[in-house]
Amino acid sequence: MQLHNRDQHPIGILKNAIYDYFDTNYLNKFDKFDNLFPVVSVKQNFDDVLVPADHVSRSYNDTYYVDSQTVLRCHTSAHQAELLRKGHSNFLVTGDVYRRDSIDSTHYPVFHQMEGVQVFSPDDWEGSRADANSYAAGYLKECLEGLALHLFGAVEMRWVDTYFPFTNPSFELEIYFQEKWMEVLGCGVTEQKILKRSGRKDNVAWAFGLGLERLAMVLFDIPDIRLFWSTDERFTSQFSKGQLGVKFKPFSKYPPCYKDMSFWISDSFTENNLCEVVRGIAGDLVEEVKLIGNFTNKKGMTSHCYRIAYRSMER
Ligand code: PHE
Repeated sequence: MQLHNRDQHPIGILKNAIYDYFDTNYLNKFDKFDNLFPVVSVKQNFDDVLVPADHVSRSYNDTYYVDSQTVLRCHTSAHQAELLRKGHSNFLVTGDVYRRDSIDSTHYPVFHQMEGVQVFSPDDWEGSRADANSYAAGYLKECLEGLALHLFGAVEMRWVDTYFPFTNPSFELEIYFQEKWMEVLGCGVTEQKILKRSGRKDNVAWAFGLGLERLAMVLFDIPDIRLFWSTDERFTSQFSKGQLGVKFKPFSKYPPCYKDMSFWISDSFTENNLCEVVRGIAGDLVEEVKLIGNFTNKKGMTSHCYRIAYRSMER
């Protein structure tokens, strides 16, 4: 549905606002890609960005496989290596990404990410007092704090150390929103091995990846991720080009309807599989699938009770 390429859709409006930030602060230096095909090889999605062979994200439970060598990309990082290899040094990649996951108001099997990469060469850091890695890390924090300020205005932020296979050190930027710390993006200094393999061994780089829905939900007050896919005019007509952060006015206050379902599980049961079945049958009517009971009997058999919340956004 190309939500990210629609100037009147919250996802497209947010993408354009981020583009504006980079164009203004980096003098149009960033190349932009927003039409790269979402079906990629396992090599692009995982191996090229050093995701270990046993990493959970590779499992059939987490990623949609087309066949054993091909997946629906689960992050825009799948395009990092090829673009570096082609010689791009400053770039933004925006696109739809796919993950098997649980069901609630912030998770949907397809969402949108934007990836950013900036490469430096020895000329850049040699004049500074920092070593190459701290130079890149410094730029990363300056750039992303500026971005958060551009999008959210004065908001409390904090940096949290984390792990990604493709960056080291790695960080998450969090903002304080609705009485909670919310993760807005992941980033870090690119692993040297990725640059080396892409023929850029003398360079250092930093990269970030952010989820557009997550930020758009906050900026536009959109309470449920399913709304982004709505073609109902009462949703689409509320947004216009260039208007970041217009507050969404809910038009559906329909009550949810709950159905509880319990069943014995075997070792192969996973919640993602259950949610895939539920989403496949009930589609966007499902708001949430939640484990509410968990019981193991004397024979060691386990039963789960799930509560499924159905709520239409539109009727
Ligand atoms: N690909 C990471 C994710 O989807 C985000 C990320 C991108 C982190 C680039 C660091 C650098 O969670």
